[in-house]
Amino acid sequence: MSVESYKLAAARRALQFVEPGMRLGLGTGSTASKFVELLAGEVRAGLQVLCVPTSEETQRLAEQHGIPLTTLCETPLLDLTIDGADEIDGELRLIKGGGGALLREKIVATASDRMIVIADSAKQVAKLGAFPLPVEVARFGMTATRNMIEMLAADAGCHGEITQRLLSDGAPFVTDGGNYIFDCAFGPMEDPEALDEALKFIPGVVENGLFLGIADAAIIGGPEGVAVIEA
Ligand code: A5P
Repeated sequence: MSVESYKLAAARRALQFVEPGMRLGLGTGSTASKFVELLAGEVRAGLQVLCVPTSEETQRLAEQHGIPLTTLCETPLLDLTIDGADEIDGELRLIKGGGGALLREKIVATASDRMIVIADSAKQVAKLGAFPLPVEVARFGMTATRNMIEMLAADAGCHGEITQRLLSDGAPFVTDGGNYIFDCAFGPMEDPEALDEALKFIPGVVENGLFLGIADAAIIGGPEGVAVIEA
């Protein structure tokens, strides 16, 4: 069995949490895309849902599959968001943003009654932080913002290389919101809440990839099958 099949199994299990008439947040990334494709099958079979995508990429995918879409401005309260994650710890704290959609993902998840994470078992960690934390920053003054991240992260016990995310041709990665991303290789975090607080204090930081107290459940696909972990 492959990682892709574990992701697919988690995405398929997540369909069981979807009820007719629900307003859904649709996540971003390879696992969330599998969910969108499976959901599309249900929609073709008659399921009625209204969805808010968390990225331009997911919007295109959902549109291609004929999934009815709305915006968070038109529909500011959602029933359920299904999204992937880069890391999940034992308290269902997450690192997200590997695909760069962290800002919309956090807005949509927070606007939802319930957020369920879908992932393969390799995403489970004892401590968050082996995956570099994505931090979305305004372009203006980004070097000053970077220095401030370094300083305040150190106060929160986090040290490590902070690298601007680039595309393969060397151009800066630009988020759907028109911002840049710093990937912060802080290593295993003793206190993710302290780091989150510190990052929120910095004016140029638009959002960071720590999702703390947001996920209500995780559906994990792995060699042993699919496990549902409730918060
Ligand atoms: C997108 O910005 C991310 O938060 C993704 O949800 C996360 O990177 C997981 O992606 P995969 O499902 O592709 O691993």
